[in-house]
Amino acid sequence: MSIISEHALRRAKHAMRWVAVAAAAGLVVGCATATSGNGATRNDMATGAAGGPFNFGTTPTAADLAHDFSYPADGRGLPPGSGTYAQGKVVYETTCQACHGDHLQGGVGDRLIGGRGTLASGAPVKTVESYWPYATTFFDYVKRAMPFTAPGSLTDDQVYAVTAYVLAEANIVGKDATMNAQTLPQVKMPNRDGFVTRDPRPDVP
Ligand code: HEC
Repeated sequence: MSIISEHALRRAKHAMRWVAVAAAAGLVVGCATATSGNGATRNDMATGAAGGPFNFGTTPTAADLAHDFSYPADGRGLPPGSGTYAQGKVVYETTCQACHGDHLQGGVGDRLIGGRGTLASGAPVKTVESYWPYATTFFDYVKRAMPFTAPGSLTDDQVYAVTAYVLAEANIVGKDATMNAQTLPQVKMPNRDGFVTRDPRPDVP
C-alpha cells in the first residue's frame, strides 16, 4: 500500500515538474517575439525570474532536460556507458530481485523471462522474452520506470548491465555480451516480428 501511494506521489510530483517545464518552455517560445508597448523585447520573461507577467515556473536547465529522454526502437540517442552480465547480476540482486524473483519468475512485479511462443497459445505468458519487440525499449523502460519504488535512480551503466543480465537469462544474448549504445539496437528480440505493422488507428492511413 505504501509502495503504491509513494509511487503515485512520485508521479504527481513528476507531472507537476512537467507543467513547470512546459510552462517555462511556453514562455520562452511565447516571449521570443513578444514586444512590449514601447518595442522593448521582453526577454526577461524567458529567464523565468520574477518580473514576468505570470511569475511562475523556471527555465529548465540542461540538467533538468537530461531527464527528458525516450529512446526509440532503433536506439537513437542512447547514452554512453556499458554493462556486462556479471555487473547486471549484482544490480538485479540488489535492486530488482525482491519484486521480480530470484529466477526472474515474478512476484510483486511481473515475470520477466520464459513463455516464448505462448502469446497465441490461448494461455499466453507475457514477459520480456515472449512479448517485447525491442531491447532498446527495455532499456528505456527500466531507466525511466524501475526500480518501481525509485525510478530513475540507476546509472546508465547499471541499466545497461541489468539489461545484459535479463536478456542473457532470457537466452536472447550470451552471458559474454556487453550492452552499450552500439550493441543494444542490434539485439533481435524473439517477438520482434510478432506485432502487426499496420497502425490500428482507423484515421491513420
Ligand atoms: C518494488 C518492486 C519492484 C522492483 C524493486 C522492481 N520492479 Fe520492475 N516491476 C514492478 C511492478 C509492480 C511492475 C508492473 C508495473 C506496471 O505494470 O505498470 C514491474 C514491471 C517491470 C517490467 C515490465 C514487465 C513486462 O513484461 O511488461 C520490467 C521489464 C521490469 N519491471 C524490470 C525491472 C528491473 C530491471 C528492476 C531492477 C532494476 C525492477 N524491475 C525492479 C515492481 C518492481
